[in-house]
Amino acid sequence: MQRKGIVLSGLTKTILPVSILVFLLACVSVSPADEGDSYSQNVEKMGEGLTTLDCARCHYEIFMSIKNGQGAHRIECRECHETFHSFQHGLRYEDVLPKCMTCHDTPHGESEQMTACKTCHTVPHAPLASLELKTLEPFCADCHVDPGARIAAGRVDHARLKCILCHSDKHGYVPTCQECHGTPHSEELTEGFTGCLDCHGNPHDLSLATD
Ligand code: HEC
Ligand code: HEC
Ligand code: HEC
Ligand code: HEC
Ligand code: HEC
Ligand code: HEC
Ligand code: HEC
Ligand code: HEC
Repeated sequence: MQRKGIVLSGLTKTILPVSILVFLLACVSVSPADEGDSYSQNVEKMGEGLTTLDCARCHYEIFMSIKNGQGAHRIECRECHETFHSFQHGLRYEDVLPKCMTCHDTPHGESEQMTACKTCHTVPHAPLASLELKTLEPFCADCHVDPGARIAAGRVDHARLKCILCHSDKHGYVPTCQECHGTPHSEELTEGFTGCLDCHGNPHDLSLATD
């Protein structure tokens, strides 16, 4: 019994220091000092320039705004951004960024307010999704001349109402008369007519005249 004890303690005496040594060696081979040295790593040269997915890793919000904008600007970044990250002396930030009019010309006319594209299309990467009624409101009549003129003539109570009180929710929304007026007439009166405008004419001045 005693001899067995001696043998066991003899074994532990050699195994322990050896395992400690192995452990320390393992620590040294993955030491933080080595991992932090970039120049000890292998690097592969990048291919033919950055792709849209490469851009997306850094410009994540922009990528997502195109992706979620549900618009026709879902094209490769570099189709619009031919020049980027070009930190040249004398080249201003604005000069590097693409211009709407390079591709679209002037779709709403040449006037100063209609060529300031970003007033209304506030997010260049989601130009339609970023149109807001509040920013469009001062310009409704510039684009919709006929409704604008009829409202401005002010012949009926509708002229007191802002365009966006009726055309609410989002740009292009068209309300029904019933939304505000319910069913104001008896069935006998409206029988045989297809809609309110048969008698009330144009929604903006309630006139049957066409000019
Ligand atoms: C490098 C070219 C390019 C530039 C710069 C550009 N666009 Fe476009 N845009 C396109 C293309 C291509 C389409 C899709 C085809 C089309 O409708 O003409 C498009 C479509 C649109 C549409 C219709 C969107 C839709 O979803 O139907 C709007 C609005 C628009 N662009 C506004 C803008 C505005 C505002 C700017 C500046 C902030 C701009 N674009 C800059 C190329 C461009
Ligand atoms: C249809 C054309 C078009 C596409 C596609 C497009 N951009 Fe742009 N981008 C523009 C325009 C126009 C501007 C400049 C708007 C301005 O004048 O402020 C701009 C501005 C920027 C800016 C600087 C201003 C900011 O908003 O931070 C960055 C960064 C940018 N784009 C990155 C990208 C990346 C990344 C992609 C692809 C995921 C991309 N763009 C796709 C047209 C485009
Ligand atoms: C490794 C990260 C990274 C990648 C990848 C990257 N960018 Fe950038 N980009 C930046 C930083 C950082 C800036 C400067 C700060 C800012 O505007 O966000 C910048 C600025 C920009 C600008 C502003 C104007 C300018 O040129 O300085 C544009 C436009 C732009 N990047 C487009 C792109 C496009 C397009 C791609 C893909 C082809 C791309 N970037 C890929 C990090 C990156
Ligand atoms: C006063 C606000 C306003 C300004 C400024 C403005 N837009 Fe628009 N844009 C709109 C509205 C509203 C629409 C209609 C969207 C729809 O069809 O629902 C539109 C539509 C478009 C379309 C889609 C084309 C079509 O007819 O379907 C393009 C492209 C466009 N704008 C580009 C531009 C460009 C480029 C500029 C600057 C030169 C610009 N916009 C300035 C408000 C504006
Ligand atoms: C930059 C020009 C522009 C501005 C500003 C603008 N619109 Fe439009 N609007 C358009 C275009 C383009 C269309 C789609 C083509 C069409 O049907 O006339 C449209 C469509 C509409 C429609 C749907 C028409 C239909 O027959 O379905 C309504 C309603 C409308 N706009 C109301 C407004 C109101 C209200 C405002 C102000 C808050 C406004 N628009 C501002 C250009 C504009
Ligand atoms: C009292 C509510 C009301 C007001 C205020 C109003 N609209 Fe309308 N608008 C309507 C209704 C209802 C229709 C749809 C008529 C139909 O069913 O044909 C309409 C149709 C339209 C249309 C599409 C048909 C067309 O005539 O071109 C446009 C564009 C339009 N409105 C723009 C405007 C603008 C711009 C203003 C402000 C200057 C305005 N509306 C004010 C109720 C209103
Ligand atoms: C967004 C609400 C709204 C919508 C949509 C709307 N109206 Fe009105 N309308 C009003 C308001 C507000 C008045 C002012 C009188 C009142 O307070 O009832 C009015 C007044 C009228 C009057 C009395 C006009 C006068 O000057 O004596 C008629 C007729 C009328 N509307 C018909 C229509 C018809 C037809 C439509 C559909 C083309 C329509 N309205 C759509 C809100 C609306
Ligand atoms: C058969 C023709 C006809 C049709 C269809 C018609 N109306 Fe009228 N409406 C009239 C006449 C006529 C008046 C004027 C009555 C008066 O002055 O008391 C009138 C008055 C109104 C008034 C003003 C009521 C008041 O108390 O001042 C409203 C609001 C109105 N109509 C809304 C509508 C709506 C909404 C519809 C569709 C659901 C509609 N009308 C369909 C002929 C019509």
